[in-house]
Amino acid sequence: MTDIQSSNTIKAKEAGAHSTRKAPKGKGKNPFVVSISSGKGGVGKTLTTVNLAIAARRMGKSPIILDGDLGLSNVDVVLGLQARYNISDVLNGHVSMKEIIIDGPMGIRLIPSGSGISSLAQLSYVQRQYILDEIESLDAQTDLLLIDTGAGIVPNVLHLNAAADKIVVVTTPEPHAMTDAYALIKVLAEEYDRKQFSLLVNLVRLPEEGIKVATRIADVAKKFLGAEVDYLGHVPMDPQMQQSIMRRKAASEFSTFTIAGQAWNDAARKLFSRSETERSGDRNFWEHLLVDADSDGLFERNI
Ligand SMILES: Nc1ncnc2c1ncn2[C@@H]1O[C@H](COP(=O)(O)OP(=O)(O)OP(=O)(O)O)[C@@H](O)[C@H]1O
Ligand SMILES: [Mg+2]
Repeated sequence: MTDIQSSNTIKAKEAGAHSTRKAPKGKGKNPFVVSISSGKGGVGKTLTTVNLAIAARRMGKSPIILDGDLGLSNVDVVLGLQARYNISDVLNGHVSMKEIIIDGPMGIRLIPSGSGISSLAQLSYVQRQYILDEIESLDAQTDLLLIDTGAGIVPNVLHLNAAADKIVVVTTPEPHAMTDAYALIKVLAEEYDRKQFSLLVNLVRLPEEGIKVATRIADVAKKFLGAEVDYLGHVPMDPQMQQSIMRRKAASEFSTFTIAGQAWNDAARKLFSRSETERSGDRNFWEHLLVDADSDGLFERNI
């Protein structure tokens, strides 16, 4: 029995090992969940996530960022923070979900995942109940969960996207990035029945370039997948952004005044005002995440 399994078995026993999960508390209060994803790495997901969070905060929302990137996750670096615990520590029963959340600059909060996110797809039934109970306390604290998913067509990225209310795909005008963005949209449309996407084109030299990229991807997605791809806008290449990353000051009021910061701000306005009207309200991201993974048979192995 693994560390995770044993500690949670104990916790579950203490809690009476409920075998059926009650309906999520506070229906209609689930946070709106937006995943920020890409086919190719290094296209600007993390910067997009952080800047959308800054913009959302300015719009009066209480965003929490979930760092879902299993690779070189760097939301904490961009925010100038150091993560002490992550989701793995919650799964191990060392700390509660509340204790791993870090308060970042400008009222932005972060859930560091570490390798814990992939463990979520390998939990036993009892462990799953435990983590869902832990998460309920989190849902009450936020109206917007932004997930930096990491890149590529890998199970972790696909499950995070499949469970989100809204999927933002980031690409650049570079041909590989565009092909990989389309490949991600294709898998999500064909295998997860997601038919609605928002596209952000980063590192653009001219506005026309962004529109051209978005039109190409949207046309192909419509024709071959029957999927809608909305254009969220373009973000220019901004040398000031690179300097602020080096100074670990990418997330600051400063970003409001940079050209890239303004562009992310416009994207946030489009995204969150639309999202309000699309919000289903009774959808619980975490339950979907775990159930989706479950339907793939991933839980069976550990029961
Ligand atoms: N609009 C921009 N202007 C200037 N530089 C940018 C911009 N967007 C991204 N960059 C540069 O690209 C780098 C990668 O961005 P970011 O870390 O957000 O990408 P990512 O998609 O999260 O990468 P990974 O897939 O490795 O997680 C940044 O560190 C920065 O140097
Ligand atoms: Mg990243």
